[in-house]
Amino acid sequence: MQYDSLYVETNLIAYIGNKRRLLPLITQAIEKTGAVKEGRTATFCDLFSGSGVVGRLAKSMGMAVTVNDWEYYSYVINKAFIGLNRSFLRSSFKNLGGLGAVLAQLNSLREPSKSDRYIATYYCPEDDNAPDLEKERMFYTSYNGKKIDAIRGQIASWFENGKINRKEQYLLLALLLYEASTRSNTSGVFKGFHRGFGGTNGDALTRIMKEVELAWPELIDGPTATVYQEDAMVLAQKLRNNHFDIVYLDPPYNQHQYGSNYHLLNTIALNDKPGINRSIIMGGKKTNKSAIRRDWIKTRSTFCYRSSASQDFRELINMVNADHILISYSTDGIIPFDEMLEILSSKGQVNICTSEYVKFRGGKQALTSEVRNVEFVLMVDTTKQGSKSQVTRISKRLLLDKIDTTIKKTVNAMNAELAGFDFKTIKRSKVLVKSYGNRSVTFVIRKNHVENLEEVMIQLQALPYSSLKTVYHDLQVITDLTREDELYMNINDIVRLYREKKWEDALESFRQIPYLLSKFNNRKAYIPSLKAIISTLSVLLQTMEVWTANRLIDERAFSQLEKIILTKINHRSDPDRAIDSYKEQITSLYDYLIGSLEGENQQEEQAVTISDRKKA
Ligand SMILES: C[S@@+](CC[C@H](N)C(=O)[O-])C[C@H]1O[C@@H](n2cnc3c(N)ncnc32)[C@H](O)[C@@H]1O
Repeated sequence: MQYDSLYVETNLIAYIGNKRRLLPLITQAIEKTGAVKEGRTATFCDLFSGSGVVGRLAKSMGMAVTVNDWEYYSYVINKAFIGLNRSFLRSSFKNLGGLGAVLAQLNSLREPSKSDRYIATYYCPEDDNAPDLEKERMFYTSYNGKKIDAIRGQIASWFENGKINRKEQYLLLALLLYEASTRSNTSGVFKGFHRGFGGTNGDALTRIMKEVELAWPELIDGPTATVYQEDAMVLAQKLRNNHFDIVYLDPPYNQHQYGSNYHLLNTIALNDKPGINRSIIMGGKKTNKSAIRRDWIKTRSTFCYRSSASQDFRELINMVNADHILISYSTDGIIPFDEMLEILSSKGQVNICTSEYVKFRGGKQALTSEVRNVEFVLMVDTTKQGSKSQVTRISKRLLLDKIDTTIKKTVNAMNAELAGFDFKTIKRSKVLVKSYGNRSVTFVIRKNHVENLEEVMIQLQALPYSSLKTVYHDLQVITDLTREDELYMNINDIVRLYREKKWEDALESFRQIPYLLSKFNNRKAYIPSLKAIISTLSVLLQTMEVWTANRLIDERAFSQLEKIILTKINHRSDPDRAIDSYKEQITSLYDYLIGSLEGENQQEEQAVTISDRKKA
């Protein structure tokens, strides 16, 4: 079944744990329940709706939806984008000449009144071109801060004066919240902001600098949609006598609390202007840097704590009244996965829908390795009996999926002995062998990757669950590489392959480098990135023959490398002798490399030799 992606994916706030990427998988799981049929309206309830993307999906599949989240920003967004129908857009804002006129008016606002100048005062620098990095917050550019204030003030005044009703207010607020989430000078959450607009390498600059502008919403008509702002535990209790075809559960699975991460969205939605200090520095000390609202603790989720998550989840499952329960969770979540499966199987027959996607860590962990994640939706059919064998089957299936993804990662064969493998080199390959129970499994490694993937997976399927756990652990050991490790592996490979005259392979290794370098993209990674560039340029110069012969200068990867070098060299950093010296080294190595690639250095080199001879 197709869903309306224009409706489902337009104006979605950036949200941790949102399921946008998993919509095809969730659609598949919904279809598997068999609840959506021609001629009848199925009922769907999402108790932890967040960005609302899954509720929108359900609405676009023609279901009657109930969505809930206890965060106010989420409530507002869902009241608008799920609670309202497309037909509302034509009939609304009669007092102000229709939605088109309202958006035009809001978008033309620039200067907020003095009393509305709140975000601009407390969360933005005074002068975007000369922010005081020590004292001022930089969540938005000053002009966007003012614009948010002006629009928020106008919406409040229209509502207070009866020019717009509650529904119209929700729609305008939701559009504003989307912009406030998108134009923020953060990497997604409001627990911090970039020091300088756009972050270390200015990746997000266009997004952040673009002026806040409310866009015409994409809505659809649908059956009834009910939106709540309640504690999921309380609501589940209240709705105990309401039977749903499908209930979807996506609780937090780690310690991060949404109320503190998205405090600014609540502040904009509530417009209650909590009192905070303007300067980050108070009494000579840095305090309250992100100015998080004090009342964020009201929505401190029990699902974020080891002590309460399992117990509350058990209670919740017990209260849910539905034929089918769909659950999104992580195998590494706070609730131990075996326990999660046990809880679910007490409610009905458990099944699983899976897919795999590669998640590349950004931000602080930029230098850690790629994470291949198996994503899945758990399904409980409450009309059927659960059993232990289903749980074991699902655990094994998930573990095999995890192995299947881990085994595709870059291998560091140096760690093989650490994991207890017998290690041999045969021709160009490394062969790792280990016995699991009474079966021995052989991994053939070539170009740092397992080459005999399919064969290995077939062998593994025959192993019992307990042995598979050991295999998974071993694979984690041999694929435990940071981006930095991977980068240096490729740099070393270039030298080795050059010596072995495997020039095509050396070029292949070079092609990985710009991509890996692009992951060195936060403050801590800046100096390592300069060092890695120096190593890369030095190695290219050492192996010059390959590159002139293979016209490195025409390679796409080379232009990417040049772009990265340029960004790093132009990066403004605090004065630092070491950094200056790295930059100088890079500039001279780079100039020399370009000269050599363009054939300009030959004469010079000869000249040096001749003059040296003369001296001699
Ligand atoms: C993983 S997110 C859900 C993401 C959502 N499925 C999406 O695609 O955007 C978890 C959500 O649960 C909400 N939450 C946490 N504890 C809650 C509770 N006890 N009651 C209601 N909502 C809760 C959080 O505010 C957050 O929005």
